[in-house]
Amino acid sequence: MTVDEPQPVVAGLTSAAIFLVVTVKPGAEHDAAVRALCGDLAALRRAVGFRDLDARLSCVTGFGSDAWDRFFGAPRPKDLHPFREIRGQHHAVSTPGDMLFHIRAMRMDLCFELATHITCRLRDSVATTDEVHGFKYFDDRDLLGFVDGTENPVERAAFEATVVGDEDAVFSGGSYVIVQKYLHDMAGWNALPVQMQERIIGRMKLSDIEQADVAKASYAHNVLTNIVEDGEQLQILRDNMPFGDAGKGEFGTYFIGYARSPRRIEQMLTNMFVGKPPGNYDRLLDFSRAVTGSLFFVPSSAFLENVPAGGGPMTPAAEGSLGIGSLKSP
Ligand code: HEM
Repeated sequence: MTVDEPQPVVAGLTSAAIFLVVTVKPGAEHDAAVRALCGDLAALRRAVGFRDLDARLSCVTGFGSDAWDRFFGAPRPKDLHPFREIRGQHHAVSTPGDMLFHIRAMRMDLCFELATHITCRLRDSVATTDEVHGFKYFDDRDLLGFVDGTENPVERAAFEATVVGDEDAVFSGGSYVIVQKYLHDMAGWNALPVQMQERIIGRMKLSDIEQADVAKASYAHNVLTNIVEDGEQLQILRDNMPFGDAGKGEFGTYFIGYARSPRRIEQMLTNMFVGKPPGNYDRLLDFSRAVTGSLFFVPSSAFLENVPAGGGPMTPAAEGSLGIGSLKSP
């Protein structure tokens, strides 16, 4: 079958990202503002991104389960549901989120500019539940000091892992995405001998070489997140980013995982938070606390561009943001 053109879920690693999660206020005028923005997002990205094409500005937009019903109704993506909290050895919280904007580029100013236009358009209609500005830290390391992203699938495998196909033909070209904001206990982590940190991750800290399977702890992060079904590894695509506020002592990792089904990410989370077998949990969580958790569906590009505006009024902020009125073609 032909798959609809996906949003740029599979966009190579960048040095900057903004993760913006919003909830939409109740009211038909707010629904209309969201719908009107959907069709204009591609043009906004083009306008900002054209100022430096080499910086590869991209934006992926996702919708939470309740938001989907509200804005688009039936049919709905078959595996879309609110993020389910997990209470195991550690707690994976579920927090509100109607829309996710995952904005990536090689330059933070481009990310910031696009986020500004998006929030200007939605200003009267949404509350921002979380906004995180992520940065590249040395050679793609997280703030715990390990290279993060090495085993991500690439090219065809990344597409296969993330893009819905004929299992839900109406929504082909879509993806599911789970985000979680983690805060690290850096003092606790840094007090651990490096050898112990390496056992927890399952890789060597300096060289990033994977430990031999026989040498790995059963609770190693890369053991618990290795999901095999019918002899096949079920992969996801991650684009985690470090973030922080040194003055406040806040050091974190923003986890973002895309997949063609949320089940495989949920299975990884269960293995991490409850343990496999239960109790054999991910020790990374002794030093990393999840403070948000949300699940979104990312429709295909065509779906997003063709959302009918719904006839509601444009917000004044939207008209004023670029000073050129609607960006839609006549
Ligand atoms: C505090 C949050 C997290 C940190 C700091 C972190 C860090 C890492 C690091 C350093 C690696 C090894 C290098 C690599 O292959 O990328 C890794 C691998 C991986 N992580 Fe995480 N991770 C976090 C949360 C998660 C979560 C929540 C999931 C899934 C729900 C996940 C799924 C994976 C997967 C699938 C791999 C690759 C395993 C393999 O096949 O070798 N991670 N992570």
